[in-house]
Amino acid sequence: MRTQVVIIGAGPAGMLLSHLLDLGGVDSVVLETRSRAYVESRIRAGILEASTVELLEASGLGERLRRDGVPHRGVDLQWPGERHHLDFVDLVGRGVWIYGQTEVQKDLGVARDAAGQEIHYEVADVRLHDLESERPYVTFTDAGGGRHRVDADAVAGCDGSFGVSRAAVPAAAKTTWERTYPYSWLGVLADVAPSTDELIYAWHPDGFALHSMRSDKVSRLYLQVANGTDINGWSDQRIWDALATRLGHGQDGWTLTPGPITDKSVLPMRSLVMAPMRHGRLFLAGDAAHIVPPTGAKGLNLAVADVALLAPALAGLLRDNDPRLADAYSDTALRRVWRSTHFSWWMTTMLHALDDPFDAQLQLSQLRWVAASTAAATGLAENYTGLPIGDSLRD
Ligand code: FAD
Ligand code: PHB
Repeated sequence: MRTQVVIIGAGPAGMLLSHLLDLGGVDSVVLETRSRAYVESRIRAGILEASTVELLEASGLGERLRRDGVPHRGVDLQWPGERHHLDFVDLVGRGVWIYGQTEVQKDLGVARDAAGQEIHYEVADVRLHDLESERPYVTFTDAGGGRHRVDADAVAGCDGSFGVSRAAVPAAAKTTWERTYPYSWLGVLADVAPSTDELIYAWHPDGFALHSMRSDKVSRLYLQVANGTDINGWSDQRIWDALATRLGHGQDGWTLTPGPITDKSVLPMRSLVMAPMRHGRLFLAGDAAHIVPPTGAKGLNLAVADVALLAPALAGLLRDNDPRLADAYSDTALRRVWRSTHFSWWMTTMLHALDDPFDAQLQLSQLRWVAASTAAATGLAENYTGLPIGDSLRD
């Protein structure tokens, strides 16, 4: 096989990259280890930044998003006895959208089908070769056991946090920064109307809680739990009781309505950045290059921002023989990655309880400051709603 770009991974980064490359007249082949059904039903992110929505719309992916997505003006910050609404639209002139990663993934699948995109699902033993040459190639085993080779001009590593692409960059050619956090999230999906119009981020001495949603009938909720937590120790009743306590059930007449839980999982929390995001003709995008804890709702949005920069960079390199954007790709993307890495770390450390009374007072002081100061609230709003993609002065 021969193509211009082999894309490793059919998650949001890989699928959107194939879409944007196609719009720019560049051919690609996508390789994915999982089945299409699995990829399209993985429950992950739920918040889209304004710039993500603009990009999806501008590239013809906005129809269902406009119809079924729900615009939110802001979020609530909560701690015992207090709840404050931050109105992002008032503060920075833009909000965010509720639209699940599963839906983004399905929209991408439909668009790529319509364009006749070549995607190989359920492949195995993907290996990257000759990345430092101008003729890299990738080998893989297809679902039927046949071994293949794809020759290309570039390889895009969009294979997430446990893929092969990051590992394909030699240790001497990369720097990695990493932080693991001393807590995890227990996430649940429930068939119940959300008890709130907009998200509630709650600090509580028992631990952080988040009330999010997927639609007017489906709620998504999270609880801070200890690392290594066994999900079997958390019955539905225990989960709803903890959510009620931490989210302030009864406070100023607000109530949390429980309902049937349809999905339950424990997610560890990690920050990781690898630089540079390029090695020879291998370009990394999304979770393959960086991971953020979910508190800032940034993972999916960062993956979108990366490929928004990478698609024109690859088109310049391969279609127009102009390497300038490709040469600038890693530095440009990393400025935004570090901004989101800091913001996600800041939200995480401000909201998660540690067994330390001094830290607790500092966290509460920060929360009161964000709620009371327009300057502080504007900083949170500017980061949460997302900085413009490719604005090198600010991103
Ligand atoms: P991925 O979505 O991980 O896609 C990578 C793809 O590559 C996968 O389909 C994988 O199967 C495939 N792959 C892996 N190895 C190979 C290989 N060797 N060859 C070929 N294909 C391969 N972010 C938020 O903002 N909010 C959230 O609530 C949130 N929740 C999350 C929950 C979980 C359990 C996880 C794992 C992540 C969550 N995230 C969340 C992060 C967000 O989902 C990711 O940042 C986003 O999916 C990144 O997209 P991606 O395309 O870079 O990577
Ligand atoms: C979600 O809806 O899954 C979600 C929302 C906001 C976050 C994290 C996850 O910060």
